[in-house]
Amino acid sequence: MRTLTGIQPSGTLHLGNYLGAMRPAIEAQARGECFYFIADYHSMTSLVDPAERRRNTLDVALDWLACGLDPQHSVFWRQSDVPEVTELTWILGTLTPMGLLERAHSYKDKTARGIAANFGLFAYPVLMAADILLYDTNVVPVGRDQKQHMEMTRDIAIKFNQAYGDTLVVPEADIRDELAVVPGLDGQKMSKSYGNTIELFGDEKATRKKIMGIVMDSRSPQEPKPDADRNLAIQLLRLIAPPAVAADFEDRLRAGGLGYGDLKKALFEHYWNHFAAARARRAELAANLDHVQAILRTGAERARAVASVVLQRARKASGLE
Ligand code: ADP
Ligand code: TRP
Repeated sequence: MRTLTGIQPSGTLHLGNYLGAMRPAIEAQARGECFYFIADYHSMTSLVDPAERRRNTLDVALDWLACGLDPQHSVFWRQSDVPEVTELTWILGTLTPMGLLERAHSYKDKTARGIAANFGLFAYPVLMAADILLYDTNVVPVGRDQKQHMEMTRDIAIKFNQAYGDTLVVPEADIRDELAVVPGLDGQKMSKSYGNTIELFGDEKATRKKIMGIVMDSRSPQEPKPDADRNLAIQLLRLIAPPAVAADFEDRLRAGGLGYGDLKKALFEHYWNHFAAARARRAELAANLDHVQAILRTGAERARAVASVVLQRARKASGLE
């Protein structure tokens, strides 16, 4: 059973990314073989600045390693270090109908927002299919927004097998609808694009300021709050503090007598402590970037060993050899 997923190096990760994507991926390591990569080729469809790409790639690597991605167990690499994926992209592209790509939501959304389309953006789902099919992947954990891309990947694999004989593993998507949408500082879905995030590894003063700045209603501390379960600080506390602690704060808010300032202070303390060990690990890793680069290089070698076998199979089947 091989699990694979890609992470775009799109900047600073936040609590929503951690709870929705990173923690489940890290936990999956206990259940089988995991292949995780940083999708830097994909990032080129939206980001042009080379220094920013380099920095984001390293940041994402540090974040994942700090949060528990185990490079001994899992294969962790930078997508572009295994350029075989671009050859498979070409092969798969010749079997991908234009209509299929024209129907892609992500492409349609971006062009509708006025982003000038280029070939890379249009071909994005084919590269993603190649990412997955190049490693004989069985399961792909992704967010709901990637459902259509996964259906396209399956379609493309089936088309290849029909055209050239049974060659590629047809993967399954693992989409967890039940994974809570983590609310941001304004109560909307936490998202980089809404500017409402709590960064995972933000600096202490700025993080405290953000949390203390959460806007609440004007009821007095003494007033009982029967709607305590809907309070944003309580909801966030439930996600990061021990259940008994979160329940205790909720009870005190409901009963009256707990001020919002004290509640937010507690939220900050628990948030800070929750990531203390990961923060220390991240600092250690950041002081030894050669080691991080070496992890990615070793990962790329291990990934490449699998990729070259599958690509060879696809080349043979399609008459390139
Ligand atoms: P963003 O919305 O901040 O741009 P991405 O689209 O890059 O985040 O998401 C990367 C991963 O993090 C996806 O798997 C997505 O499902 C998950 N994720 C992002 N925001 C949240 C959230 N608020 N709650 C739960 N999961 C989230
Ligand atoms: N498109 C995915 C996203 O935006 C990232 C990605 C690229 C990916 N290649 C992949 C995810 C392969 C899973 C498998 O989140």
